[in-house]
Amino acid sequence: MLDIDHLSFSRGQHKLLDTVSARLPAHQITALIGPNGVGKSTLIQLLTAELLPDSGSVISQAKHIAVLSQHNQLYEPLTVRELLQLSHATMDEELIETLQLTPLLDRSMFDLSGGQQQLAWLGFVLQQQPDLLILDEPTTFLDLHFQELFLKTLQRLQEKRQMTVLMVLHDLNQAFRYSHHIWLLRRTADLVSESAALMHNQIDLLSEAFETPLQLIKTPNQMIIQPK
Ligand SMILES: Nc1ncnc2c1ncn2[C@@H]1O[C@H](COP(=O)(O)OP(=O)(O)OP(=O)(O)O)[C@@H](O)[C@H]1O
Ligand SMILES: [Mg+2]
Repeated sequence: MLDIDHLSFSRGQHKLLDTVSARLPAHQITALIGPNGVGKSTLIQLLTAELLPDSGSVISQAKHIAVLSQHNQLYEPLTVRELLQLSHATMDEELIETLQLTPLLDRSMFDLSGGQQQLAWLGFVLQQQPDLLILDEPTTFLDLHFQELFLKTLQRLQEKRQMTVLMVLHDLNQAFRYSHHIWLLRRTADLVSESAALMHNQIDLLSEAFETPLQLIKTPNQMIIQPK
């Protein structure tokens, strides 16, 4: 679906990506994780050709890409309904109901809370029915209820539509719970690409990448990552 081939990119003197190669698994959810400022949003901009690499390339077979960036801005006071109609002429009533957007449809985006705006934006990208969906920190601004609601909806839609999803998440437990595959971007300007099941056990690798001693706690039903 999407291949990165020997990609290098620097901001000033700071090398963020050093000949990185990786494949984004098709029809799966991949979580892009890594510390603040490591270059996750920059990598997304390179994947969507918003930025051009210093060298290397991005090869995409996606027909329709939808992207939700970390900071979204509207310049006109659209209502939620108008925003959703912009992404798709016929509204997906089921999706809108699921995301609990119905009571917000006639409110102006400018008058909504940060979390409510984020939900509307998530409805906006999901309505586009992309085959490749890229989300930069989609759960930011959402409370726990809406984080779970959104991630479960995304998981269900991904399976139903067989979408390929790449999303930046900061909560490692969410990343492992809701994705099949992990891309870990490190300060050494490289990317570790591994199935979620394999990466989950690599607690030393994760501790080093986040410069925080982490421990894996195994309960009968799940494994939880916590700072030591
Ligand atoms: N427009 C820009 N111009 C110059 N430097 C930038 C620009 N945007 C980001 N940077 C720098 O590039 C580096 C990577 O930034 P980026 O936003 O990609 O990180 P990130 O991994 O997404 O971080 P976060 O988790 O905080 O969102 C940072 O050092 C940042 O200061
Ligand atoms: Mg970012």
